[in-house]
Amino acid sequence: MPSASLQVALHDLPDGALEAVVDLNFVQRSLLEALGFDTGKGEVCPQYDTGSGDVDYAVRKNSPNDIFLRTQSNPYLLIELKGRDVSLSEGSASYRRAVRQIKRYLLGSHCKTAQWGIITNSVHIQLFRKHRKVVHPATPCLAITVENIGQVIALVRDKIEQPVRALTLSVYNNKGGVGKTTTTVNLAAVLTLLGQEVLVVDCDPNQQDLTSSLGLPLSEGAVFQALTDRNVNLRTAIKPFSITYKALGKEFKFDVIPADKKFIDSVDEVQLRQQLKPDSLQRNLESLKSEYDYILIDAPPNWRIFSQLAVYAADVVLMPTKHNNLFSLENAALAMKEFIPEAQRAREDGRPVALPVFFNGERTTPSQIEAAQLAITNILKQAKKDGFDLMPHFFPRYTTTQKDLHIFEVPSYANIASAAFSRIPATYRDKTARDYYVALAKEYFLQ
Ligand SMILES: Nc1ncnc2c1ncn2[C@@H]1O[C@H](COP(=O)(O)OP(=O)(O)O)[C@@H](O)[C@H]1O
Ligand SMILES: [Mg+2]
Repeated sequence: MPSASLQVALHDLPDGALEAVVDLNFVQRSLLEALGFDTGKGEVCPQYDTGSGDVDYAVRKNSPNDIFLRTQSNPYLLIELKGRDVSLSEGSASYRRAVRQIKRYLLGSHCKTAQWGIITNSVHIQLFRKHRKVVHPATPCLAITVENIGQVIALVRDKIEQPVRALTLSVYNNKGGVGKTTTTVNLAAVLTLLGQEVLVVDCDPNQQDLTSSLGLPLSEGAVFQALTDRNVNLRTAIKPFSITYKALGKEFKFDVIPADKKFIDSVDEVQLRQQLKPDSLQRNLESLKSEYDYILIDAPPNWRIFSQLAVYAADVVLMPTKHNNLFSLENAALAMKEFIPEAQRAREDGRPVALPVFFNGERTTPSQIEAAQLAITNILKQAKKDGFDLMPHFFPRYTTTQKDLHIFEVPSYANIASAAFSRIPATYRDKTARDYYVALAKEYFLQ
């Protein structure tokens, strides 16, 4: 019984056990087996070269004629191990270091196929999912005890054995006019061009910009029905958007859940809140996640129920900002400090998390960028006083050795702005627009 052997292994570990002891008496003795991997058959490779440093273990099931330990190719799960002398309490500096470390390993050039990462010191354990280039928590950082270890490891194993196909992404900023809708539509379009199956959700029924920019009719109650009645599947609200892309002579298609008219009639937020819970969309998207590579949600610019639906449903939140609009930057920070943690507390699976912000749709000069960097530095200082490390969300390339303050930009481009009137995403009609959004997709999502 793996659970009993896990309990015994954990029980025998001394309080301050160093990494070598945790390794021998916990990981090798029972954890690897409890996760479903067989050391004896060569499914476990210690000290694996990720291409970005050595991780303690890489593991994968063998396939016919391919013993993992022999070929050392295509790892599936990486495990970064610490001793009990290294705290993995969420929020501690050593925890943050371990998270950065497992992310770096998962993104290593030899780990393209890796989908999961674990950090553990036998006191805590956390599972991370990698969806191409995006790494996000798949569980919170869980405390392990002799009593719960069977359940905790079974939970982790279940997730590893049934990876969810779709990455769910909400495009959000509490400020209007920063390019949320434009980003959602064009990102969907380029991901489709790049061979991905995409579902787009218009979660802004008051503006309906996404639905109208694609020339689709509003939903007549189907979304409302699905979100308020457990017996109705959200699938009934899906409308296809397709276009024959002349340059390639091929049809491209993505699915859309349009904005629902019925929500506009229900202007009363109190009444709406009785029918909709912040997790209504998240629960309803669950059954669609095996059919898409990406589910992209366009959110409204506030923190009321429809933004909450969008953010609660997300694995990751992408925030367009404007370098010359302090509100858009401060609002992004506010979402990271308050709204996203609120959703995390409700979901209890470590999600959603914020992706690094980008600048959208404005012409920039080097001196303007410098001014924006200074404004952000002040926002980061204030956040630090409040106990938040927002550096990775604003300056993802900044390290102690390389003080790189680069922020990704989607430039201002007239054909992007005019596309909404033609009912066709700019990326389908215009090479420059396409290049901008392919670059965005590569920066954030694609390996
Ligand atoms: N990269 C860009 N270049 C030029 N115009 C843009 C760009 N991105 C967005 N826009 C324009 O800015 C305006 C606001 O964008 P929108 O996506 O509607 O913002 P939001 O959804 O955040 O309110 C729209 O008129 C849109 O066409
Ligand atoms: Mg919008």
